[in-house]
Amino acid sequence: MGDLDFSGKTILVVGGSSGIGNGVAQGFRACGAKVCVTGTRATAADYRTEIGSDLGGLDYASLDATNGRTLEAWRPPFTELDVLVLSQGTVLYKREEFVLDGFRRVVDVNLNSLMACAMKFHAMLARSRGALIIISSTAAFHATKGNPAYNASKAGAVGLTRTLGVAWAEDGIRVNGIAPGLVDSKLTKVTTGNTKRLYGALQKIPVHRLGTPKDMAGAALFLASPLAAYIIGQTIIVDGGLILA
Ligand SMILES: NC(=O)c1ccc[n+]([C@@H]2O[C@H](COP(=O)([O-])OP(=O)(O)OC[C@H]3O[C@@H](n4cnc5c(N)ncnc54)[C@H](OP(=O)(O)O)[C@@H]3O)[C@@H](O)[C@H]2O)c1
Repeated sequence: MGDLDFSGKTILVVGGSSGIGNGVAQGFRACGAKVCVTGTRATAADYRTEIGSDLGGLDYASLDATNGRTLEAWRPPFTELDVLVLSQGTVLYKREEFVLDGFRRVVDVNLNSLMACAMKFHAMLARSRGALIIISSTAAFHATKGNPAYNASKAGAVGLTRTLGVAWAEDGIRVNGIAPGLVDSKLTKVTTGNTKRLYGALQKIPVHRLGTPKDMAGAALFLASPLAAYIIGQTIIVDGGLILA
């Protein structure tokens, strides 16, 4: 596997209990890494019946990344870290993001908690000369009429990726990001679980299929590997051509 051999490496995927983060976690595991994932439920067993959650072979820890005290007190099950993937995220529908509490909640999960997690693991990543990968969204690049908080938080995540990329380059940490298009997960069930909406969405994607967590894992493995040694602060769009069309 050469450059994509992660044997002996430790990876943490915040928001790796399901969906994209889970696919990324399993991708690193398949390439030899020891992988820890977090989710909001108390134990790994709480995901047993969840579609899109495969915790096999992964360490699990419960973490609400928006709670500063919890995050500060959290002792992860490792002392060295090579790659940190931040895949936590949420969205609110039915105009709840037009209510200030809802807006704040989404920005807290999708943006503020990224900085909090990045800061918590900065020292470990500097020690390993590691990589940080931030999952944003193609929503960062166009309007999303019903979701002002999701949009603003994802645009913020792309900006944060750019700025930490530059700020932490001198610490030996490579910070980059991935902006997924539409991937079937519990976040997008409102679209993917509705035949008419799904059909409409597929028409707009040039490759006429949804993205998969595995598609995102491919980009994450590349960004974390020596193949991407000269890439700093970039967000790779992985969307089957969606925002070009
Ligand atoms: N699916 C898409 O089409 C798509 C497109 C573009 C970008 N994204 C982004 O991709 C990332 C992953 O989303 P997904 O689609 O894979 O959805 P998902 O399956 O719902 O995964 C979201 C993850 O975030 C965790 N999480 C939620 N609130 C948290 C909190 N307060 N603290 C820590 N972790 C928290 C969830 O934990 P639980 O499992 O316990 O809920 C879960 O692990 C998100 O940032 C999302 O915005 C998704």
